[in-house]
Amino acid sequence: MSDQNQFTLTVNGAKATVTCQAGMRLSEVLREELHLTGTKIGCNAGDCGACTVLVDGEPVCSCLMTLAKADGCHIETVESLANGL
Ligand code: FES
Repeated sequence: MSDQNQFTLTVNGAKATVTCQAGMRLSEVLREELHLTGTKIGCNAGDCGACTVLVDGEPVCSCLMTLAKADGCHIETVESLANGL
């Protein structure tokens, strides 16, 4: 039996559905599943801030947030700042 589930996020204004393990880090989902590599991974421990994204308008270290916690949230990555350039 698979331990993966389906999760839906709104990322930079677009709905994104991913099928992953619930405990996967949001930073990994953004980079590996959604190919948004502007979100960097440094310490992977909540210390450096390289992975910061906005979750429902609040800055969050995405390396500390699980996919399950992010389910249904609005995520903004640094790529959102490039719109219109
Ligand atoms: S990678 Fe350093 S705070 Fe997340």
